[in-house]
Amino acid sequence: MDRDRVKRFGQELLRRYGDAMTVLLVDLGDRTGLLAATAQGGSSQEIATRAGLAERPVREWLHGMVVAGIVEHDGGHFQLPPEHGALLVGETPYNLAPLARAAAMGMGRAQRLEEALRSGAGIPVDELHDGFTDVVDRMSRYRFDALLAEVYLPAAGDVHERLCANGGRVADVGCGSGHAANLMAQALPEAEVVGFDAYAPGLDQARTEAEQLGLTNVRFESADAGAVATRGPFDLVTAFDVIHDLGDPAGALAAIRKALVDDGIFLLYDIGASSDLDEQVALPWAPLMYGFSLAYCVQGSLADGGAALGNMWGRDRTASMLRDAGFQDVDVLDPPLDPINVLYVCRP
Ligand SMILES: C[S@@+](CC[C@H](N)C(=O)[O-])C[C@H]1O[C@@H](n2cnc3c(N)ncnc32)[C@H](O)[C@@H]1O
Repeated sequence: MDRDRVKRFGQELLRRYGDAMTVLLVDLGDRTGLLAATAQGGSSQEIATRAGLAERPVREWLHGMVVAGIVEHDGGHFQLPPEHGALLVGETPYNLAPLARAAAMGMGRAQRLEEALRSGAGIPVDELHDGFTDVVDRMSRYRFDALLAEVYLPAAGDVHERLCANGGRVADVGCGSGHAANLMAQALPEAEVVGFDAYAPGLDQARTEAEQLGLTNVRFESADAGAVATRGPFDLVTAFDVIHDLGDPAGALAAIRKALVDDGIFLLYDIGASSDLDEQVALPWAPLMYGFSLAYCVQGSLADGGAALGNMWGRDRTASMLRDAGFQDVDVLDPPLDPINVLYVCRP
C-alpha cells in the first residue's frame, strides 16, 4: 500500500465531493434567483432582500459559493463576477445552471436508483420523466433558439432548401417539450412537422406552445420512436439527444430510415464522445455524462426493451449503428457553443 497515494486520493475525493455539493449550491442559486441577485453585488442582507429570501441561509450559500471559487467577496461585499455570470445567469445557450438542476435531481433519486441497480429492470419513462421534461427543456431550449434555424437545419443542405422553397414533411423523434418541433414549424412555414414522444405530458406542453405561437403546421403524437416507420414519408427526420435513451435504438434507426424518402436527411444530435473508455478518461465532462447516463438514460432504456446503450455510446458505435440502419453517407459536425454534442448529418 502506497500511503502517499492513499493520502492524495483522500484529498482528491474530498475535493470531488465538494464539487458535487457545488452542484446543489448552483441549483439553489438558480431556483431562488440568488445567482442573478449576486450578479448585482452587495452585502448578504442586500442580496437576500433583492432575492426575497432570508439573510442567514443566504449568507451560508454566499460563503459556500466563495469557497467554491464562484462568488468573490471583499469584506462583507459579495459579487458574482460577470465572467461567471455569463455561464450561470440568463436565458441564453451559455447558461449551464440547468445542468446542475439535472445533476441534483439525479442525486435526489439515489434511493430509487439503488432499487434499479438491484433489479436491473430500469425506470419506466413515465416515472423517469415526471418533473424532468421541464429540466430537459431548459437544457435544450436556448440552444435550439440560437442554433436550430441558423445551424442545425442548414446542415441538411439541399433538403433544407427544398423544405424552405416547397415545403414537405419533417418528423422530430423523442421531441420532449416540443420546442424544437415548434421552432422547425416556424422556420419552415410551408412544411408539416410532427413531433413524436413516448411521454404524453410533455406533449401537452408542446401543444400549448404551438397554440401560443399560432402554429397550424405542427402536431404531436404520443408514440414510441419506432412508430415513425408507419407515419412517413418524411423529407427530414431529427432526433435530439434521444436515440441512446431508447429501448430499441437499432429498431428506431431502421424505422427512421424506412420513414425517410431516398433523398431525405436524418439529423442525429448526440453526445460526441469517443466510444473507447480509455479515451473518455481525458474528457473533463465524462463523469457528469456517466452520472446522467446511469440516473436517466440507461434506466429508461432498460425499462423500455433493454439495449441500454448509455449516453457515452460514442462516435464509432453511432456510426456503425447508422450504417447498419441503412445510412451510408454520414457527416459529423461540431456545432458551435457545444463542447459535448455533435450533429450527424445522415443520408441513405
Ligand atoms: C433527453 S430527452 C430529449 C428531449 C428533446 N429532444 C430535447 O432535446 O429537448 C429524451 C426524450 O426521449 C423520449 N423517449 C424515451 N423513450 C422513448 C421512446 N421509446 N419513444 C419515443 N420517445 C422516447 C423521452 O420521453 C424524452 O422526451
